[in-house]
Amino acid sequence: MALLQWNEKFSVGVRSIDEQHKVLIETLNELHHAIMKSEPRSSTRSLAASLLAYTRNHYVAEEQMLANTDYPELKQHQALHRELLQMLQGYLASFERGGAANVDFLYVLRAWLTNHILNVDGGYRAWLAEHGLPSLVAAAHSHTAGHTSNVS
Ligand SMILES: [Fe+2]
Repeated sequence: MALLQWNEKFSVGVRSIDEQHKVLIETLNELHHAIMKSEPRSSTRSLAASLLAYTRNHYVAEEQMLANTDYPELKQHQALHRELLQMLQGYLASFERGGAANVDFLYVLRAWLTNHILNVDGGYRAWLAEHGLPSLVAAAHSHTAGHTSNVS
């Protein structure tokens, strides 16, 4: 069974970010699955590395979007992103030092991510709906000329 499942309550009102959250959750689930199945260390390690890389890229995209829309709580939001990246880096570092695949960390991660998406990312949903969408749409168009907008 999946460790965490995306559901409509997680929606932040921006399709591209919702899609990124889904991939992030999927990657977390793959890592959990691999650890539960006692898959070789090389594959759990590489899944943990993918999770870190994906999370980092996702945060860059999310912070860019928030900066584009002058979100007033960007600084605090970034600090929370850094906190999670540090946790993931520490987890990966313990793999590299030869530590065992720690499933408890994934439960911590699940709680952290659930709270972050619902309560912290959820905090910019209303802001974007009220202040951000026009410039966000413009930004999305200039980055993906010829494609449909990634704003739902
Ligand atoms: Fe966030």
